[in-house]
Amino acid sequence: MAGRKITVIGSINMDLVTSTTQIPKVGETVLGNSFHTIPGGKGANQAVAAARLGADVTMIGAVGNDSFGETLVEHLTNQGINTENIMIVKDTSTGIASIIVSEADNSIIVVPGANNHVSPEVIEKQEDKIIHSDIILLQLEIPLESVIKAVELAKKHGVRTILNPAPIQKLPKELLEMVDYLTPNEHEQTLLFDSIDGSQQELEKFKKKCIVTKGSKGVMIYKNGEKMEIPSIQVEAVDTTGAGDSFNGAVATALCDGLDIEEACRFANVVGAISVTKLGAQTGMPTKKEVEEFLQVHKSS
Ligand code: RIB
Repeated sequence: MAGRKITVIGSINMDLVTSTTQIPKVGETVLGNSFHTIPGGKGANQAVAAARLGADVTMIGAVGNDSFGETLVEHLTNQGINTENIMIVKDTSTGIASIIVSEADNSIIVVPGANNHVSPEVIEKQEDKIIHSDIILLQLEIPLESVIKAVELAKKHGVRTILNPAPIQKLPKELLEMVDYLTPNEHEQTLLFDSIDGSQQELEKFKKKCIVTKGSKGVMIYKNGEKMEIPSIQVEAVDTTGAGDSFNGAVATALCDGLDIEEACRFANVVGAISVTKLGAQTGMPTKKEVEEFLQVHKSS
């Protein structure tokens, strides 16, 4: 599958998802509606999104030597993802995300656990995998130094990188210089640019690398240096968890397929929309065929 090799370097979590009508205030207890354990983690979600769309995906990350870890690696393998480079860390728990879903919106607390063991040294050992990739996809749920190391190696070998800066934190200018695309949501974009201490010229340069996801308001991109808005696709949202991850996996796949940035984002927009129609980050992620079927129905309606 030449040209479609995506390496995702990032987090693998078990999502502990509680659906509730009422979100408790501090000190309050409420009764929820349902509870599910669902595979998640921004890295793993993006890997699954790309694999379902037909990309040749390798996941680099870490889980603990516990039952969640075992389940998650098995799950990723079943999705057709190469899991040989996932470390099993002894005496450490697998990352978890405690998620509250209410009226299709969510709040999340991530406890990184084994994800924190994806060190720069671990990344260095994966140089060969990085060289043979068409795109490297990263997020910020592993240590920042490791993200920087991965982007350095990718840059050294001329491999394109997409950084989804989530959860947002202050990023060094050197990293922003090196990455090819940044995919913040609106909130992350504001915080990211507020935290950069740079000249107007530098900020402009970094802004032009951004693909900003805006939920129901669509996506903002720069094409040939000009701002462009791509409208959202209207669907009945059940759970928006992982919508950004579906979008990122889809953008990476579409860019590998040779689509330009606008075409890639239009395609990813559809993928993101379909993904929110089911509970759980990965549950609603579509295959290429499902995207085509969705587009057929949309065209004729
Ligand atoms: O982006 C959604 C993901 O964020 C969840 O799957 C959760 O694990 C957290 O990492």
